[in-house]
Amino acid sequence: MVCFLRARRSALPSPSADVPAIHAVDLTKHYGHIQALAGLSMSVPRGEVFGFLGPNGAGKTTAVKLLLGLTSPTAGDAWLLGEPVGKAEARRRVGYLPELFRYPAWLSAAEVLSFHCRLIGVPRPVRATEVESALTEVGLRQRAHDRVGTFSKGMQQRLGLAVAMLGAPEMVFLDEPTSALDPVGRHDVREIIRALRAKGTAVFLNSHLLTEVEQVCDRVAVVDHGRVVAAGTLDDILGGGAMVRLHLTGLEGVNALLARWGDVTVEGDWVSVRGVDANTVADIVADLVARGARVHAVEPQRQSLEDRFLELLQGSGDEVAA
Ligand SMILES: Nc1ncnc2c1ncn2[C@@H]1O[C@H](COP(=O)(O)OP(=O)(O)OP(=O)(O)O)[C@@H](O)[C@H]1O
Ligand SMILES: [Mg+2]
Repeated sequence: MVCFLRARRSALPSPSADVPAIHAVDLTKHYGHIQALAGLSMSVPRGEVFGFLGPNGAGKTTAVKLLLGLTSPTAGDAWLLGEPVGKAEARRRVGYLPELFRYPAWLSAAEVLSFHCRLIGVPRPVRATEVESALTEVGLRQRAHDRVGTFSKGMQQRLGLAVAMLGAPEMVFLDEPTSALDPVGRHDVREIIRALRAKGTAVFLNSHLLTEVEQVCDRVAVVDHGRVVAAGTLDDILGGGAMVRLHLTGLEGVNALLARWGDVTVEGDWVSVRGVDANTVADIVADLVARGARVHAVEPQRQSLEDRFLELLQGSGDEVAA
């Protein structure tokens, strides 16, 4: 297991600006007989976009609620921005887009944002600017004074995102931020996440949308039935799956020749070598050419996150967590 999951009590964060955004040690949550989260230990540095990926019922929302102090753990500890979770001090510096939320239908978008500015203590003189810039960021400026009750699902989700970004949070939790969004909206959210990272804001992104996670996350944990089944950078997770396809002619015994580089499959003039290190592709081609092969095409390929995701979840059955 990669190092960031080796969070231990001996490495508790100190109250400085360098402490991780999130530090969790054996965080566990039972709801009656259901084990929603089983010993989550992890650390997310400042400014990182961290993807928490898993199927329905895997424990993603439970993890977010525990990290925000919205529900208490059955066992384990966690710190948010260096403070024990649940402390109002850290909570004020964090933005949150919940999975299921409803704002009062009779308020306008600007009123919802203004209300939240008051809640998190944005000083009165800068509230209007703060509201305007949040609305602009999520593409709702033209609808600032329309009532939430007249908003489509996707517009409400954009508003939720705007709320999560108020007050320049140091960390933002986004629980399935694009579930109601069209492709343009999804693209916009990716841009918003990238902009947050550029500002040094850490993002904890819950998702079951692999492309979303693949495109924006620095690191990922795959969770299933409350347990982390894989974690690390996408390269770590997809590591064993690197593959190169070669179109070559003019050489006999290709299979045996290439076996030292990885698992070989030959289909006519095409040869696939699975499990190669991306850095060795040039060496493979040079070796083949030196032996007299004509290499017509070289296609490095990577196992898709979707294939890897399904592979990781294999054996856990189709049932949602119970
Ligand atoms: N308040 C609760 N009471 C009882 N069981 C709960 C409660 N909240 C969550 N659970 C259970 O904990 C497990 C994990 O749920 P959780 O909401 O964390 O999953 P998730 O990964 O967010 O799923 P989804 O992708 O569907 O949002 C599920 O079996 C769920 O039924
Ligand atoms: Mg959820």
